[in-house]
Amino acid sequence: MQRLAVLTSGGDAPGMNAAIRAVVRSALARGFDVVGVHGGYQGLASGDLRPMDRRDVGGIIQLGGTRLGTTRYEPLKTVQGRERALTALREHEIAALIVIGGNGSQSGAAALHAEGAPVIGIASTIDNDLEGTDISIGATTAIDVALHAIDLLRVTASSMKRAFLVEVMGRHCGYLALMAGIAGGTEVIVIPEADTEPASVAQALRAAYDRGKSHAIGVISEGAKYNADLLTQYFCTHRDRLGFDLRVTKLGHIQRGGAPGVFDRMLGTLLGAAAVDAAVERRYGTLIGMRDGKPASAPLADVAGKTRPADTRLLALAHMLAM
Ligand code: F6P
Repeated sequence: MQRLAVLTSGGDAPGMNAAIRAVVRSALARGFDVVGVHGGYQGLASGDLRPMDRRDVGGIIQLGGTRLGTTRYEPLKTVQGRERALTALREHEIAALIVIGGNGSQSGAAALHAEGAPVIGIASTIDNDLEGTDISIGATTAIDVALHAIDLLRVTASSMKRAFLVEVMGRHCGYLALMAGIAGGTEVIVIPEADTEPASVAQALRAAYDRGKSHAIGVISEGAKYNADLLTQYFCTHRDRLGFDLRVTKLGHIQRGGAPGVFDRMLGTLLGAAAVDAAVERRYGTLIGMRDGKPASAPLADVAGKTRPADTRLLALAHMLAM
């Protein structure tokens, strides 16, 4: 019987558990023996691989986080770190390794595959910045968390006639900010893909004030050139430009902790099953993602390490609708 291993790596994302469940149960149904790697690549390098059966993934589809635990394992960037991982794969006789994770994790998967490991990736990151997929596991639930926070902040902002800057995650990509900003009807959106100077943020907030709005909200991506800290510094000396009194809220890691919504549960389920199909067909070195509404695969070597930018054309729409 062939053995299949599954791990989660990098930032946890809601829907990872649905993917783990789908991988484990599909793989067992296809005749694999299944092991779960605990603690991502670090667990792989230290040999923390444990057998999994159907019951081990019972009652997890609705949970955020990852049942297998996850790490950011920097040594995987080194030859020695990868050698430890490759040795573990050989010692445990792993015929296929499924890596559920985002950009850094899939770069690691690509490097291991280039060195001979039978790796298959599943696109999972709240940032939704992976090439090779239209959407990654965790992104839509994280947007919903940010959106809920924006809706709550608007209540107090309106009551007290204030402006709020809400900083959302997205290390190199503004997807989360763009979606939460448009769906939240915010007055300004600042993302890494567009050069937005503090003065134009001030102008957008001031315009809302001058139009008689009771509040103004700016969604700021943490990866933007001017993030919430830098904008706050700017507004300390240019507060008069706003009209509104200003408050700043950084949402931070709460965006990762949501219970996966239906989309992320379905996405995790479909991609998990598709990754096992790829293992059966020995299509190693591929990233499983979603293209045009269907599971699809792309060569890891082509997509890993690239950042897919958010669609900046939507900024103009957001701007027009905020008027
Ligand atoms: O996983 C993606 C992400 O949540 C980014 O949005 C964020 O910049 C980063 O991870 C935070 O990483 P950590 O959890 O290691 O602080």
